[in-house]
Amino acid sequence: MGKSYPTVSEDYKKSIEKSKRKLRGLIAEKHCAPLMLRLAWHSAGTFDVQSKSGGPFGTMRFKAEQAHGANNGLEIAVRLLEPIKEQFPDISYADFYQLAGVVAVEVTGGPEIPFHPGREDKQEPPQEGRLPDATKGSDHLRDVFIKQMGLTDQDIVALSGGHTLGRCHRERSGFEGPWTTNPLVFDNSYFKELLSGEKDGLLQLPSDKALLSDPVFRPLAEKYAADEDAFFADYAEAHLKLSELGANAGLFQQSAGHDPSKSKKNTRGNTSKAGSDFEDQDSDAERTGESLYTPIADRGGTLSKTMTMTRIQMLTLNIVGIKNVRLSLPILSERLLEIVFSMISQAI
Ligand code: HEM
Repeated sequence: MGKSYPTVSEDYKKSIEKSKRKLRGLIAEKHCAPLMLRLAWHSAGTFDVQSKSGGPFGTMRFKAEQAHGANNGLEIAVRLLEPIKEQFPDISYADFYQLAGVVAVEVTGGPEIPFHPGREDKQEPPQEGRLPDATKGSDHLRDVFIKQMGLTDQDIVALSGGHTLGRCHRERSGFEGPWTTNPLVFDNSYFKELLSGEKDGLLQLPSDKALLSDPVFRPLAEKYAADEDAFFADYAEAHLKLSELGANAGLFQQSAGHDPSKSKKNTRGNTSKAGSDFEDQDSDAERTGESLYTPIADRGGTLSKTMTMTRIQMLTLNIVGIKNVRLSLPILSERLLEIVFSMISQAI
């Protein structure tokens, strides 16, 4: 099943845009893009695909998660963000931290990463020990990124390129030094440096070097060193996936800014998944081959022609009492649907 996004209110979208501008200012002023990217990554990278626990749901706001060994230094990021967050109480921490990561990449010259709001703040930090260990190699990276988080080999290599920004701090991780000579610029120099061997003043973690020795990782690292556009495209795709871990599991719920008039509610006041806008969106996207990641809101506020078609068909089929037929709709061609639709219309 594809991802499902909630429809957030216009006010919520405005808050996101305004806070994005404030984030650009903060990051430019404090030169804290690397720390913000690490905050977003460490927030999301705890996602466990089996238990659907952890992930980009704002729990880094809790001191308990900031105290995890892997998160040393991230309390600074949380503190820097708080004055802006206070100005936007309607935005979830979950959205805000991921937005900070997206802005960090953008303002340092990296690719634009689409941002879809609607993450809900969870109340419990994940258990400690889910983020990767820098002293380990490719088996460990696959355990964390593929088995635990549900990402791919390509995502591992592309996301490792996040080390084009920033540096290690001995007091935080035990390692010291930057990966590149321009740690405030997002480009493909991480891969160039990695392939050109160790140099005085620059650092390569054991987990970085794993990209050189692994037969699947290395060709990707070589490709990204030779072709920055290819790196940017794959990085943006991987970062988007990282920032939306849990969306597949229906963990994008209705946050504070959600417009309740747009969806059905269950008794807890949350939008029920069954029969919600979001399932229709997935089916529609799968059927049309359109990006599954395009939220309804980004479609100019109006339903696309194909989505309208699907809705009319759903309505009609429900009228004649055929339930659960939506599951089979995505595999039918539009032409076939038109025929079925006209036959049912005539029957009615
Ligand atoms: C592949 C597994 C990874 C390992 C083992 C790893 C490990 C580390 C370590 C040890 C540090 C140093 C922290 C410090 O001393 O301040 C660091 C910093 C950093 N990491 Fe990673 N990381 C990994 C993946 C990623 C990913 C996927 C991203 C983002 C897409 C990322 C972004 C960063 C950034 C931007 C910094 C610099 C932070 C700063 O300058 O304050 N890392 N990482």
